[in-house]
Amino acid sequence: MDWGLKNRLSKTISPKTGKTVMLAVDHGYFQGPTTGLKNPKEDLPKLLPYADSLFITRGILRNCIDANTNVPIFLRVSGGPSILGELSNEDITTSMKEALRLNSVGVGMSVFVGAKNEDRTISNLGRLVNEAEDVGMPVLAITAVGKDMVRDARYLGLASRICAEMGAHIVKTYYCEKDFDKVVEGCPVPIVIAGGKKIPEKDALQMASNAIRDGAVGVDMGRNIFQSDNPIGMIKAINAIVHKNVSVKEAFDIYKNEK
Ligand code: R5P
Repeated sequence: MDWGLKNRLSKTISPKTGKTVMLAVDHGYFQGPTTGLKNPKEDLPKLLPYADSLFITRGILRNCIDANTNVPIFLRVSGGPSILGELSNEDITTSMKEALRLNSVGVGMSVFVGAKNEDRTISNLGRLVNEAEDVGMPVLAITAVGKDMVRDARYLGLASRICAEMGAHIVKTYYCEKDFDKVVEGCPVPIVIAGGKKIPEKDALQMASNAIRDGAVGVDMGRNIFQSDNPIGMIKAINAIVHKNVSVKEAFDIYKNEK
């Protein structure tokens, strides 16, 4: 792996623990003002000290995040449809030059395996990796799951492997109770999990813990952090699971004690 790419990756995946807590706040790119993220300028700064990187669009980055921040930036570079349209109809919306200008440590896009535009999103990923390799930029591929797709190990394993085959350096997918270790096994690059819809805090901590146990290198989590009644407690608890391997009970105490 080229030095620049390796160095950028090390800003997200801790060389000390081999793990990462990415804070996902890109939801507005198709959902608009999302609960917990309605005012990113106010909602986000308090969470940044506990994140290894921030997964964000350029618009919210420029307008809502202080440029003096130390948090490494992972830039969402795909988009197109809103929540009202055909979600798989995505293209690359942000250039590699822009990612470099914003001092990003990585770029991320969604692929929609099994959906209407799967072929276009997969070839977009291939093209993004070509551009990224030229400048040493890690690519995170996100296995977006369409309305009709089952989130089981077979589907998630298929989608994750395809992302790795296209050259993604990290894959973000969902956790599944059964055989998640097989999803990890079939994907030769590091996997992080998305949190998905808001669930009770203890369940979200359990999911993160299970994912780490099964081989994920961390999380790229959003709603289960910023929609919690205690977002700081929650990100601290997730951080302790990911980097310190604490038990779910200990992590839940961290979440509660922050209140
Ligand atoms: C989808 O909107 C984005 O890729 C999110 O970054 C991803 O789903 C992670 O966020 P959450 O944990 O809220 O699912």
